[in-house]
Amino acid sequence: MFRKTFAEINLDNLTHNIRVLQKAFPNRFLCPMVKANAYGHGDVKLALHLEKLGIKQLGVCLIEEGLLLRQSGVKVDILVFRGFDAKGAKAILDNNMTAVVSTWDQIEALEQVATKKVSVHVKFDTGMNRLGFRTEEAQKVFDRLNGHAHIEVKALCTHLYIGENALETDQTSAQQLHKLNKVSEVFKSMNVFCHALNSSGILNLLEMEQKGQQDKNHPLYLQNWGLRPGLMIYGYSSLGHPPVASLKPVMNLKSVVNNLREVKAGETVSYGAKWTAKRDSVIAVISIGYGDGYHRLLSNQAHVLFAGHKVPVVGTVCMDYLMVDVTDVVKGDLKLYKDQEVILFGGDLKGHELSADELARQAHTISYEMLTSVGERVPRVYIGKETP
Ligand SMILES: Cc1ncc(COP(=O)(O)O)c(C=O)c1O
Repeated sequence: MFRKTFAEINLDNLTHNIRVLQKAFPNRFLCPMVKANAYGHGDVKLALHLEKLGIKQLGVCLIEEGLLLRQSGVKVDILVFRGFDAKGAKAILDNNMTAVVSTWDQIEALEQVATKKVSVHVKFDTGMNRLGFRTEEAQKVFDRLNGHAHIEVKALCTHLYIGENALETDQTSAQQLHKLNKVSEVFKSMNVFCHALNSSGILNLLEMEQKGQQDKNHPLYLQNWGLRPGLMIYGYSSLGHPPVASLKPVMNLKSVVNNLREVKAGETVSYGAKWTAKRDSVIAVISIGYGDGYHRLLSNQAHVLFAGHKVPVVGTVCMDYLMVDVTDVVKGDLKLYKDQEVILFGGDLKGHELSADELARQAHTISYEMLTSVGERVPRVYIGKETP
């Protein structure tokens, strides 16, 4: 590595987050989502690690993502959530993956290529209006697939679109769960199970369990809803408040000081002269920029961790660099700080933390985007125990 900018991926923290789920829900369908390069963490490495943790299935969006995992030696079931045509159906079946079927066309595509019995999961749209059969079509879908020569329905699923409200019995998540529950009654004779909970749904369920407020009539308890956690396994909460479960961020985005400059009061820093030094200042140039996925919107907004201190990003974020004001931190010979490690988000060994959530707020986005934005030219460096 010539440029010491990298995403440090802590496998121990991933193990911890998965154990939280396995301990709380030992007998549930658990399908960690590793789409979008495992939310930027490196899908192959993480999938292989999750397999070692006893995970039985993984979720991807694209057929291509699933193929990469198979070709890299992942053995567990891979659920492909995005649609497919006949060619895609063949790739899914040839590689022992499981199709999540959302349309009539997809049933036909499978019929064209299936030569033996294949299991599928069927997705119903309970309100998100993105993918899935309408719930009113449940009987028609059942009639089409009941006793089918080649297609066997193993599970039904849906996706919560405001999972944050899953504790409220009169909100959208409750309505969605009731709808899928009703659909599952139509499919009862097929002995199917249902999966519906993303991180928000799961964290709300955990909260209810930890408060000892289990109410068997609550929509979260209508069924043993299967779990499809994404964000939370990477250590972040989607609830907008700290989760009851102790999650550990898996990614530390790190870089180093490229060089330091002393600027005089009144001088400006970076493109467009959007920051002017109010006093004589020391500016550290850091080797990461928007070409690495560090959003330009963070110009003059964010902080980084520099020698355990939060220091402000000053001026416009460039493609390959950003600048921070370290005037209040540096002491003595500036040469001491050459190659100083900098944390863009994550934490250091002394417990100083800078959450991707904080940057997300400043960039008017969500932690999901901060994580998945970390670019291809940022190497992923894995630490922690490979064999749990
Ligand atoms: C179908 C499906 N299930 C589960 C998830 C995981 O969601 P989260 O990362 O909020 O847990 C996603 C992510 O968008 C998804 O598309």
